[in-house]
Amino acid sequence: TVAGRVAAAMAMSVFVTRRIPAEGLRVLSQASGCRVQQWDSEEPVPRAELLAGVAGAQGLLCLLSDRIDREVLDAAGPGLKVISTLSVGFDHLALDEIKKRGIRVGYTPDVLTDATAELSVALLLSACRRLPEAAQQVRSGGWTTWKPLWMCGHGLSDSTVGIIGLGRIGQAVARRLKPFGVRKFLYTGSGPKPESAAEFGAEFVPLARLAEESDFVVVTCALTPATQGMCNKDFFGRMKKTSVFVNTSRGAVVNQEDLYEALAQGQIAAAGLDVTTPEPLPTDHPLLSLQNCVVLPHIGSATYATRSTMAVLAARNLLAGLRGEPMPHELTL
Ligand code: NDP
Ligand code: DGY
Repeated sequence: TVAGRVAAAMAMSVFVTRRIPAEGLRVLSQASGCRVQQWDSEEPVPRAELLAGVAGAQGLLCLLSDRIDREVLDAAGPGLKVISTLSVGFDHLALDEIKKRGIRVGYTPDVLTDATAELSVALLLSACRRLPEAAQQVRSGGWTTWKPLWMCGHGLSDSTVGIIGLGRIGQAVARRLKPFGVRKFLYTGSGPKPESAAEFGAEFVPLARLAEESDFVVVTCALTPATQGMCNKDFFGRMKKTSVFVNTSRGAVVNQEDLYEALAQGQIAAAGLDVTTPEPLPTDHPLLSLQNCVVLPHIGSATYATRSTMAVLAARNLLAGLRGEPMPHELTL
């Protein structure tokens, strides 16, 4: 009908940069006045397709693997009103440019905190108790008998745990680790957070002291200019030879060459990384040659329920932004 054609022409168009959980896409496709265009693939949208897809769109639903910079914003044109990212991290978004253009941003805090904290604990235990290495020994015939000195690692009992970035995920990690018998929590960040720290009796310390005193270091901060490359040669040099390093934030917080040296030289005991630079980490990367380094493919939030909830939230953020309504979770720019 004519009315139908007019409604379609007036609909707001949104570009979705990947195949996302069906629950999220359904929210968009069932919304009136919303025309969805999607890069319907498991693989990232090629840059040229992103630039073409976003052209003329009012809304963009993107992932942490899409770099949303001036070029993308220019390609979108002045009609772009809202960017909704399927992530809590927003280091892939050129926020200055986005703010300048009056574009609103939605993101997905809270709903992935439990899943990511759980994975952080799993990774920590895998690294400190050498689970992948031990499991491999069973398969390869290395398990000959019970040996008193074989496959020993470091446990959490009576330990000191240092959390870099005591935010939502950092606190959720501390909450889960406490019952393992942790003696003392340290944390660092842009300033003390007595209210968040009280639950764990955590002490705010400078980064250097956190490195020197922690038996386990867990990185759960955001990637910012201040945190980029923060875990470097100096940092690892201060850690104890028996200490374990875990990163579930962003790969760029770590200087990977320095981490490799620290692990290879026995300067620290082990590491667990859910995030790397680049992602994916090439299969011939030196870190993957080390027995004392457990690397996971950025699966912190990867439970079925969490990813579904994230997708619904990202879709709702997008729709609210398009309609000029308050978003469930808007990033303050
Ligand atoms: P929050 O904003 O709640 O926490 C971020 C923390 O980073 C804050 O506590 C902040 O501390 C801290 N921080 C900022 N600057 C510094 C600094 N210079 N030194 C140390 N800490 C600093 O975010 P979330 O806990 O929800 O998420 C944290 C990050 O985890 C995300 O940004 C994302 O990159 C990553 N992430 C990874 C996942 C994965 O799959 N591996 C899943 C989900 C998130 P302060 O308040 O003192 O500034
Ligand atoms: C995020 O949300 O920032 C994670 O890295 C993926 O869930």
